[in-house]
Amino acid sequence: MNPLRLACGLLAAAACAPFPTWAANPDHGAELYRSHCASCHGNDGRPVLPGAPDFSRPTALLKPDLALLATIRSGRGGMPAFAGQLRDRDILDVVAHLRTLR
Ligand code: HEC
Repeated sequence: MNPLRLACGLLAAAACAPFPTWAANPDHGAELYRSHCASCHGNDGRPVLPGAPDFSRPTALLKPDLALLATIRSGRGGMPAFAGQLRDRDILDVVAHLRTLR
């Protein structure tokens, strides 16, 4: 776990006031990733489906979260749209997980 998040969990809420009250949850994102994404993208981010990007490479996810959210919502090429299946908040949790894979 990210030490900052751990510290926020352990310290009084006042100590964490400068940070947003909501932050993406990469652990929840990991669960959703396994059920919705890993069949093509691989558990560790190395693609199973040819043509899918390799999330284990540091250059794979240089786009901002909102750009990735838009693509995951609407789908692209061989990837289905996830709008209607996953809420934006869930998708952002998955994006937070993706960023732990490299
Ligand atoms: C059916 C296979 C499949 C599934 C399921 C799938 N993807 Fe993809 N994904 C692809 C393919 C293929 C591409 C490359 C699309 C292209 O650029 O033509 C891709 C591309 C991406 C990209 C790159 C977008 C960019 O702008 O560079 C992201 C991020 C991504 N997928 C995330 C996810 C997430 C998160 C999930 C689960 C919620 C998911 N994918 C589920 C096949 C899949």
